[in-house]
Amino acid sequence: MKVFIKKHFLEAYISQLKNDKKSIGFVPTMGALHEGHLSLVKQAKEKNDAVIVSIFVNPTQFDKKEDLENYPITLKKDKELLLTVNCDAVFIPSAKEIYGQNISANSFDFDGLENEMEGKFRVGHFNGVGTIVKTLFETVKPDYAYFGKKDFQQLQIIKKMVAKENLPVNVIGCPIHREQDGLAMSSRNTRLTENQRKEAPLIYSVLKKVREKFKTENISDIEDWVSNQFKNNPTLELEYFTIADETTLKTATSKDANKNYRAFIAVFADNIRLIDNISLSNS
Ligand code: PAF
Repeated sequence: MKVFIKKHFLEAYISQLKNDKKSIGFVPTMGALHEGHLSLVKQAKEKNDAVIVSIFVNPTQFDKKEDLENYPITLKKDKELLLTVNCDAVFIPSAKEIYGQNISANSFDFDGLENEMEGKFRVGHFNGVGTIVKTLFETVKPDYAYFGKKDFQQLQIIKKMVAKENLPVNVIGCPIHREQDGLAMSSRNTRLTENQRKEAPLIYSVLKKVREKFKTENISDIEDWVSNQFKNNPTLELEYFTIADETTLKTATSKDANKNYRAFIAVFADNIRLIDNISLSNS
């Protein structure tokens, strides 16, 4: 596996792949890799001649300094894991390599997708995501790029950016990977205490119950029920729960048979923020 720190070496490798007419699959990550990330690489390997992973903890997408400072970094283990799935190359740039002296995000218009859910609670987050993903797409020039559906809003926003800016890349959304007890895999899970880790599967069990309830109950009753599930839990604090139209991400208050809905949730375990979502459509 090739390891690139400097952009110009990566660009030379990519030019060679393009000259050889090889297709490129790309998996952007912030490291602290887990099975979920590896499943993206495996999916990319099935369709592309070469798979490139980036590991970069992007400072412009963090709204809280503390969250950025505590983001887990496990580079040695990440490289070992990437070898197990035959990743072809990994790009591990510094902030200076990406941003130069000016670490700031550009402003994007994602047709309002950025103002819902995560956008309300993490101001500026999606400008940071848009900035880094666009920069990485321009450098890596992938044919296909792979993102997990755990960050469903991020996935929709990246698809929107690609469509609006006509970027020559196919964005593929991949299934959420879960621990055996249902907790969605996330790099942040490694920061949970033993007790928080024990309580965290409540998030997915609530979402599964929501899926059942959605068949017969109205949305406002479901919202009340979810809020009650967390009210008396001393470990997990609900930040938001919302049922939204999958395409517009706008909060739904009633059901329209022609639309697909998804339930979205964000929960704090102390200062560790966990998000998850589930499809509420029948398919
Ligand atoms: O989902 C992530 O890990 C990040 O938001 C991404 C897409 C790598 C951009 O920094």
